[in-house]
Order: sequence, then C-alpha cells, then structure tokens
Amino acid sequence: MCGIVGFIGNKNAKEVILNGLSRLEYRGYDSAGLSLFNSRYRVFDVFKDEGRVQKLIDSTKESQFSNIGIGHTRWATHGKVNKENSHPHYSQTRRFIIVHNGVIENYQQLKDQYLKNSSFVSETDTEVIAQLIETFSQTLNVETAITTTLKLLHGSYALLILDSNDPEKIYAAKYKSPLIIGKGDAGITIASDLMALVGYSTDYHALDDKTFIVARPDNIRLFNLNNESLDFHFKPIELDDSDTTKGEYAHFMMKEVHEQPSVVRRILTNYFDKDASLIKPEIIDQIKSSDRIFILAAGTSMHAGLIGKQMIEKMSSIPVEVHIASEFAYHQPLLSKKPFFILVTQSGETADLRACLVNIKDQNYPILTITNVPTSTLAREASYALELFAGPEIAVASTKAYVAQVTVLSLLAYELSSKNIDIKKELSIAATSIENFLASENIREHVRNLLTRRNCFFIGRGLDYFVGLEAALKLKEISYIQTEGFAAGELKHGTIALIEDKTPVIAIISDPKINGNTRSNLKEVQARGASTLIISTRDLAYPDDDVILDPVHPLLTPLITVVPTQLIAYYAALERSYDIDKPRNLAKSVTVE
Ligand code: M6R
Repeated sequence: MCGIVGFIGNKNAKEVILNGLSRLEYRGYDSAGLSLFNSRYRVFDVFKDEGRVQKLIDSTKESQFSNIGIGHTRWATHGKVNKENSHPHYSQTRRFIIVHNGVIENYQQLKDQYLKNSSFVSETDTEVIAQLIETFSQTLNVETAITTTLKLLHGSYALLILDSNDPEKIYAAKYKSPLIIGKGDAGITIASDLMALVGYSTDYHALDDKTFIVARPDNIRLFNLNNESLDFHFKPIELDDSDTTKGEYAHFMMKEVHEQPSVVRRILTNYFDKDASLIKPEIIDQIKSSDRIFILAAGTSMHAGLIGKQMIEKMSSIPVEVHIASEFAYHQPLLSKKPFFILVTQSGETADLRACLVNIKDQNYPILTITNVPTSTLAREASYALELFAGPEIAVASTKAYVAQVTVLSLLAYELSSKNIDIKKELSIAATSIENFLASENIREHVRNLLTRRNCFFIGRGLDYFVGLEAALKLKEISYIQTEGFAAGELKHGTIALIEDKTPVIAIISDPKINGNTRSNLKEVQARGASTLIISTRDLAYPDDDVILDPVHPLLTPLITVVPTQLIAYYAALERSYDIDKPRNLAKSVTVE
C-alpha cells in the first residue's frame, strides 16, 4: 500500500523521485522519504519524516545533485506513524539503504534467528531486511546476500536497495507487491506504479515474482533468485500527463466522476469491433459450461459485483454468488461441482483477493479477473483477464472504476445471454444520462441542507439497495459521516430506532416494482422526523423528488443512480474541508491482508 520510486541515470534523481512520489502518494500518505548519494562524503543521505510528499520536497530543497536515489510514501502497517518508522531504512552500519512495499510476516522469527546482535531503530518489518542483507554480505557477495535474504522472507515485498560501497547500482526485487521498471533517455526508473514513470520512461517491464534486477546508469540485468539471467519484455507506456494530473478540476475525484460517460464509451469501443464482441469466446464458453459463478471482491468492487450478480442471473440464468474476498479466503463456502470465479478489482493488487486466488488456483478452478490494471498481479495470475479501460483512478474513493466494472459486467452478462437487448445502444443511453445529470446538477445545495448530522442512511430495494451500499461507503470514507446503506424494507425491523429529528435518509428509486414500497418506507421515516432526499428516474419520479435522472434500461440503472451519490459524498467532504482525494487512514490499493 506504499509507493516506491527509484532512479539511476543522467538526471537529478531527486526530481524524478519526488515527481513520482507525488503521483504515487494516493497509495499511502502517512510519511515520505528519500535517499540520495552525497558525493562529497561518499554516503547515501536519508531524508524522511511523517507527513506528506510536500514536506519532503521542502526538506530536500538544498540537497545536491545525485544521479541515483530511492524514495517511498508509507501506509503504516508495522509501527506508528513517525520519523523512525518512515522509509528508507538502513542496516546497522548504514551500508544498505532500502525502501519496501509489502509485509514480512516472519520478521520477528528472522530477527530472533539471525539478528540477535543487531540493534534496531524502528519498529518495522522492513528494517529486518536491511539488517539481513548486511549480515549475509559479510560472507557472501552482495547479489547472493540479497537473494539469500529474499529466500527467507515470508509475506510480500517490492524492494529497492542501495549499497553505499557501490553507489552506481540499484537492486530491485519483488514478490506479490507490484514493481515496474521503466527505461528512457534519462535512465532507469523503478516504481510500484506505471504513473511514476510518465515523462521519464518510454517503455516498461512489469517484474515477475521472485525475480530481481541490478540497474546501472547504462545497463540493467534481470535474474531469478538462483542468479540465472532472464530476458526483459519491455512494452511502450501509453499513459500521458493528462492521466496523472487534475486538469481543470480541484480534485481527482471530481475529474474521475466527470470522466464516467467517456469511460462507458471507451469500454464500448474496446469491447466491440462493429457489432462483434471482442471478449474471447473461450471465456464465455467456459462460464457457460460452469454451474455457478462466484464473484469475489472488496469494497466498491464488491458492490459492483452485487450488481453483476443481478445482471448475469437476469440475463443468463446462471446462478451467481458474491463474496467478500477477505471472508472467502479463509472461510470458503461449499462450492458447486463446476464453479467459475470472477475477481473484480480496480487495482488488481488487493491482498485479500490474492489470498482467494491462491486457494482457487490450488483447486484448479478457472478464474477471470476484471481489472483496471492489465499488468497487475491478479490479472497476470488469473486464467483470463478483462480490462476496465477506465484510465488511472487516483482518488482513493473509487468512482469511475465502479462504473467501468458495472459496464464490463453488463457486457459479460450480455454475452452469456440470448442477446435480446441492444447492449451497445443501452450503454450509450446510460452514458448520455450521466452526462445530462452532470451538466445540470445542484447536489451541493442539497448536501448543505441535508447533511447536518453525524449519521446518514441510504435506502433502496433491489439494484437500488446495492447502489445504496456503495453510496454509503463513499459518503463515510471521505466525509467521515457514519452512513449505512439499507434495504428499504428492512429499516423497520430495528434500525428505524435510530431515526430522530433531522436524521438524513436518502432514497434511490429506479425500479417500478418497488416504487410504491420504498416511498411508503420514506413516509415512515419522515413521520419520525427524518430529513429525506429522493433520487429517482424520470419515469417513476414524483413532482417533489430532489434529483431526477433520465431513465435507462432497468438493468443498467446503477450506472446512473450512483452518480448523484458520488457527488453527495464529494460535496459533504468539501463542506467539511476534508482532504477529498486522500481520506484519513486509507490508501488506494490495499496490498496487505
Ligand atoms: O482495487 P480494488 O478494487 O480491489 O479495491 C477494493 C477496495 O479496496 C476499494 O474498492 C475501496 O473500497 C474503494 N477505495 C472505496 O472507494
């Protein structure tokens, strides 16, 4: 969940690393640090502290030119958020300096077994790695000391390592956590995310697990952990600055909300050649031959999975179960005879999902990963992958990835069905409906009047209920208002006890079958003092409804009803002056279990 960037080449490493870290800050923002070579004293200086990358930029203003360096932004796992626990960490003599993304599960055991005589300055698992390399380097050459250390680690790591005795090299290694190598005229950049490479590299290679590289300014070599040489597979980087900057928007979240119509259209372009679907027939055949689909995901992606279940079951009649990844990983339910697994994940790096993937693979079941990052671990390790084409999602609160996930799931449902709807036309209508809403919304005003309490409820039935779950997650994660998404009919079975004067209750109504029922539930909470806001589609709207959306195909309503709820969250956080793109305690991709 941390961001790491290293550079070696013919430019000032500080510039490349600080730019990269700023772009990766969404991966973790508890602390930031950097190590650069000080040619005067022939040592690597380390600058680090708790706080954001901007603080690091300020504190390194005076540092001198170095063509080599490594940097890190942290999401704390082991040890408090403080300077000592910030990366880079170093070995006892300060010979080895490292940054790490991941978790070393057996760090205490390694400490007890190999490092009884070493003294530690931090509470982190990472420091153990630096100390082990130093210990082994007393009898082995550096590369072997590193691979010997790597073989002892249980858990996950993306690592960059500097050796003060040889300041012309960066060592990098990975297992389970992502690491990308970029090359360009300026030199070699190594980072946990492609975005850090934009502007400095033209081509990238995504490192495989249990491989490591040795990078020099003019040469880079790839090995497995037995020191056997491997080949690189570089591909061109297709991102540009517009993917990594906010453009005209104050926050990435708002930019990403506004990108949603074009994301839906981009998916159509990428998934169809005229009217022919580009989803591999093999995937469809394999799903059709299964007797049950299991969708596994976390957070927002799990909410998209719930919508996917409804779409697939209604269109194709294949039964679907949706499970929270962290639960499924250790409490696997009874499976059907021929299950097919779909992992839904924006980042493709979620550790809870990887734990599921490992179990499912052991049982030899087919897996499809639906992800925004085709180079990600979960895309590469699954039997099949489908890309979301949402473009990089930088705000921690997921918006356009959810819309992309629902869109791709609708295409999959369509391909599994007898195809009696015009899915391309219906999705285009949905894109226009989102666009029309965004062009004339006045959500901020509603938010000011409505969200005056410390709690809030979203209610709905069927697909609207699932959107309510997503709406509640969005509101709580960025505005810190305690919010619950509730099946409208379930409220009166207990939770209605929490309704008091001015408690906000937001209803989503897009299904004619339940319009009357949900409106009765609204009356019940209004009678008890709740302040209500109603989001409906025009075909079902009552004159006093607050947000009225252009109607779309009944199975695609989540694509449009979710959008006002994203803005409710956005404006609630804005009104409270919170950091919208980087909410407290969170990070974009959750690479620890
Ligand atoms: O990358 P993933 O889609 O696997 O991430 C899953 C969740 O961590 C993620 O959806 C999270 O809930 C969102 N940040 C919420 O906005």
